[in-house]
Amino acid sequence: MGVVDKTFSGGGREYLSEKHIKKMFLDFLQMKEFAKNPLVFEKGEGVWIWDVMGEKYLDGISGVWVVNVGHGNKRIIGAMKEQMDKLCFCSPIYSTNPKAIELVKMLTDLTPEDLNSVKLLSGGSEATETAMKLARQYHQQCGHPNKQKIISRYLNFHGVTLGALSATGMADRKWMFEPLCGGFRHILPPYCLRCPYKMAYPECDIVCARVLEDVIKYEGADTVAAFIAEPIQLSTGNIIPPPEYFPIIREICDRNEVLLIYDEIITGFGRTGELWGAQTFNAVPDILCVGKGMSSGYAPLSAVAFREKIGQAFWGDAKEGVHFAHGHTYAGNPVASAAGVAAISELLENNLIQRSKEMGSYLVGRLEELKRFGIVGEVRGKGLMIGVEFVKDEKTMESFPREKNVGVKIGENCMFKQKLLVRYNPNWIALAPPFIITKEEIDILVEKLATAIKETLEEIN
Ligand SMILES: Cc1ncc(COP(=O)(O)O)c(C=O)c1O
Repeated sequence: MGVVDKTFSGGGREYLSEKHIKKMFLDFLQMKEFAKNPLVFEKGEGVWIWDVMGEKYLDGISGVWVVNVGHGNKRIIGAMKEQMDKLCFCSPIYSTNPKAIELVKMLTDLTPEDLNSVKLLSGGSEATETAMKLARQYHQQCGHPNKQKIISRYLNFHGVTLGALSATGMADRKWMFEPLCGGFRHILPPYCLRCPYKMAYPECDIVCARVLEDVIKYEGADTVAAFIAEPIQLSTGNIIPPPEYFPIIREICDRNEVLLIYDEIITGFGRTGELWGAQTFNAVPDILCVGKGMSSGYAPLSAVAFREKIGQAFWGDAKEGVHFAHGHTYAGNPVASAAGVAAISELLENNLIQRSKEMGSYLVGRLEELKRFGIVGEVRGKGLMIGVEFVKDEKTMESFPREKNVGVKIGENCMFKQKLLVRYNPNWIALAPPFIITKEEIDILVEKLATAIKETLEEIN
């Protein structure tokens, strides 16, 4: 009998039993392992979340970089309830609703430069997929039908639908679905700590950015539609590019009429301490993909925002039959839009983006103290988007062998013993608490992580 069965056999909550959990498939999870000790959450407040056993966890990762304003936000819940009383659904295939219009207005007031056309959607993969289809059709509309290839980067994650996965550069997420879509190419990403070109910054002259121009040239500029990138490579341990990287990429895209797409599903809405990663890295894209923090997780919500010239290309007369040939049933859903309007208002009116910056630097400072354990090689962060890389040797920065799974052991200790939610990998863990976190709560978080590191070291040494 599993943990959940013990408490909930009887009492009207039998559905929580292991028997029923075994019928579920969760994301990327080995379900047999999960079912042995399932995490089943039922309540959240601020940075805290409780499981069905009444155990309290510190949400050190905002769900998964989602719940930026914290759990249990009454304003967002109230806005959603109000909308639900009026209208829960209308179809974007022939109509829209006031909340969706309000949300689009809000977004276009916030997006940089002339990114003032918006397509509302429901999830991150939908957004990146939409951005790439938009880029392809845009070039068709503009008389360049061969500009269809998408270039992206190894180690970047753009989602799981077939197009988004084709752009994703992580073999372990893809190999079982190969061959994927045609017309996708990858370049090596920036990663100064372990430069894939074996060079050192700044003498490298940012070769990782400049190589894009070579690849476009060898592919043929008239065959390349877009370049897509995560401003901070999250899924590979919070890799922050050198400051010159995106300005150089921007110039290369301009010279070659290649659209620049930012996947800001995570970096958007203040996670990096600025509203957009685009501001953090001094280069504005042509298409901006946002999701996760857009509704702070209160409803499935995402969007792509794009430049005037792209919007114009689809704004023909009826007789020309020009339209973006793409859509989703739940795009611009009234309740999700109400959640988005309320979540973004909460973020802006309470200065939470500034808070993400301030609490982020406090958290980074506290995490630096963990170098005393001798295995914390690098603490990388922008705002409240932080990665901690573990190394075998702090001086040479040599990694632990992957099979030692040090990061996984620390991560699992955090999750299951310290009750601190984090994301982890064999060599790093990621932290991204809600922006409302206080210094006292950060101290608790660091204490929990320190205990997890200490106990893991005792276990492996
Ligand atoms: C950078 C990035 N892009 C896209 C996605 C896909 O988003 P979703 O899971 O909402 O489809 C994710 C998900 O974590 C992500 O981190």
